[in-house]
Amino acid sequence: MSTKREVILSGIRPTGRLHYGNYFCAITHILRLQEQDAQCYYFVADYHALTTITDRREIYRDTLNMLRTYVACGLDPIRSTIYRQSDLPCTAELALLLGMITNIGHLERGTTYKDKMLKLEADPRAEGNPLSYGLLGYPVLMAADILIVRADVVPVGDDQRQHVEMACDIAEKFNSRFGEALHVPRAVGREAMRLPGLDGSSKMGKSDNNTLDLLDNPQTVLQKIKGVETSTDPRPLETESNEPDAIVPQMPGGVGVLYRLLHLLAPQDVYLDFVGQYRAGGKFYGKLKAAVAEHVSKFNAPVIERYNNPAFNDDYIEDFLRENAKKVTPVALETVERCREAIGIGHSLYRA
Ligand code: TRP
Repeated sequence: MSTKREVILSGIRPTGRLHYGNYFCAITHILRLQEQDAQCYYFVADYHALTTITDRREIYRDTLNMLRTYVACGLDPIRSTIYRQSDLPCTAELALLLGMITNIGHLERGTTYKDKMLKLEADPRAEGNPLSYGLLGYPVLMAADILIVRADVVPVGDDQRQHVEMACDIAEKFNSRFGEALHVPRAVGREAMRLPGLDGSSKMGKSDNNTLDLLDNPQTVLQKIKGVETSTDPRPLETESNEPDAIVPQMPGGVGVLYRLLHLLAPQDVYLDFVGQYRAGGKFYGKLKAAVAEHVSKFNAPVIERYNNPAFNDDYIEDFLRENAKKVTPVALETVERCREAIGIGHSLYRA
């Protein structure tokens, strides 16, 4: 029997703060796998952030703060290899090689690129960065991130699924053209999930301004939760099952978000009590919001405390980044070398 540890990889752009969507769609999976002794790689995608960030001070700060948030959430830089994308510059070489076999048409169907195109079409003078070569190539760089560590599993939220699938397609194409140099990850299971936004829309997202953040203090939490739109009248649940999971998706808009959060954070009896109230109808949204805000703040408190712990200062982060870059580099160079050999270019630069 093979004793190879499962290789898990995920990453996030260092823009804004970590929100509940990021946490419950990707980070919780990594935390669980970290406990199961998988080989976990988790990185901050600062190259990817360059499609939107231009200020060098901002990118450095945001990257370090994102890493500090990881640690505050329980990611352990000793058991998991937590690194910064730009500390692994051979990713850029792999992206270049992968770019040679990637169709532009395939990239133009990428969600990030398409969204930006649509926004620009709607408002050509909209501020922000232009449609760049980097933005079009976003999925190629992401494929390089995934393939370079030879990941088996890539836990991501629903919005990134398409990119992961593109990475699998690119790897298969490379292998069929040049020989089996790349490890193709397993397709992402249905565990990928989507958390609705506080505005009741289908997705919580940084750019939609509808997030609940892990570092939000109790005042902000209360304010955000109070602002959730609940004017839709309670209507009876149409479900045959009493399973909480089956109940949640039936709720309309803003109310659905509140129940979803309560389901994630509160003890079952509290959650089921509110489900009962929903079924009975009546006015109880004030109480529901107070309960949700309380559980959110309770969840955030230890994260905020660790985030502000002076032990997790910049020096601490820089130290583990240096150590972890040393750990992941040989793995990555090995992959790039396999690809160079498969294509038949260059001398063996990376092998002794
Ligand atoms: N695109 C992801 C995001 O926007 C970040 C990312 C970059 C990523 N490379 C990755 C995620 C590789 C998973 C695997 O958050």
